[in-house]
Amino acid sequence: MSHRNVFAVALLSLIAAPDTAAQSLHVPDSLPPGVTAGMVRLGREIFRGKGNCHNCHGPEARGLLGPDLTDAEWWDAKGTYLAILQLVNYGVPIEQSARGVAMPPRGGSAIDDHDTQAVAAYVWRLSHPDDSLQVPVTAALIARGREVFLGPGGCHRCHGPEAKGDVGPNLTDAEWLHTKGSYLSIVGTVLSGVPAFRSRVRIEMPPRGGARLTDAEVYAVAAYVWSLGRKRNRE
Ligand code: HEC
Ligand code: HEC
Repeated sequence: MSHRNVFAVALLSLIAAPDTAAQSLHVPDSLPPGVTAGMVRLGREIFRGKGNCHNCHGPEARGLLGPDLTDAEWWDAKGTYLAILQLVNYGVPIEQSARGVAMPPRGGSAIDDHDTQAVAAYVWRLSHPDDSLQVPVTAALIARGREVFLGPGGCHRCHGPEAKGDVGPNLTDAEWLHTKGSYLSIVGTVLSGVPAFRSRVRIEMPPRGGARLTDAEVYAVAAYVWSLGRKRNRE
């Protein structure tokens, strides 16, 4: 059997495995168009600072005079990025308020358009945490992850083309140094990397392998790595 066939068979057994469903992670596939991670970070600062939002929604946005913005329940906005942006821009006039309390436009603050977009991005993110969209580990995700591993992720440079180890450890054995072997913990390790002081070989693995991977690519490559370790576990 060629290597490719072995791989295909391994994938099929994965799909058929009853516990595959348990190994799923809730992740957003992408941010809304126009929204960047940088905006979300900036928006958090504005929320707690010059945007005034914390005064009525609380520093963690869990609600005070204004509603909790971290739950999935919307009083006024529809929960999409654009709806949130619009609401923050215009506020909630008293006659439209569900609780009989008004929200002034932009929280009554002097934030500009750029800051308003950022704070809306942050609020959107709050109600769409990593567990809001289910991305199960599918054969397609694993196959895509293999491409990332050998391609833009550059993982093969340190872990070898077969992931059997080089500078970085063998990822196909059942021994895990930093992750717990679960899909989620592998995602976490790939996202954060391994600092040199924690590395057994005193060599750093940079966050995302030092590559410019999107979140979606990280989820895919982690699925591939998870499938390698798991395949071995079942042998
Ligand atoms: C003066 C208090 C006050 C400030 C300051 C304030 N809000 Fe509000 N906000 C409210 C109130 C009150 C409501 C709910 C109105 C209602 O009862 O329908 C609300 C509603 C919202 C909603 C809609 C929530 C939903 O469930 O639909 C969002 C989003 C929101 N605020 C974001 C912000 C942001 C971002 C800022 C900072 C730029 C901000 N608010 C500043 C009082 C405030
Ligand atoms: C610059 C080299 C380098 C690159 C590139 C790299 N890694 Fe690593 N990786 C390492 C090192 C070094 C360690 C930790 C070694 C140790 O502790 O001995 C590691 C650890 C890991 C672990 C934890 C293994 C365990 O046993 O817990 C995973 C998972 C992992 N890497 C996946 C990846 C993925 C996926 C990529 C590509 C996105 C990648 N790595 C890119 C060097 C690298």
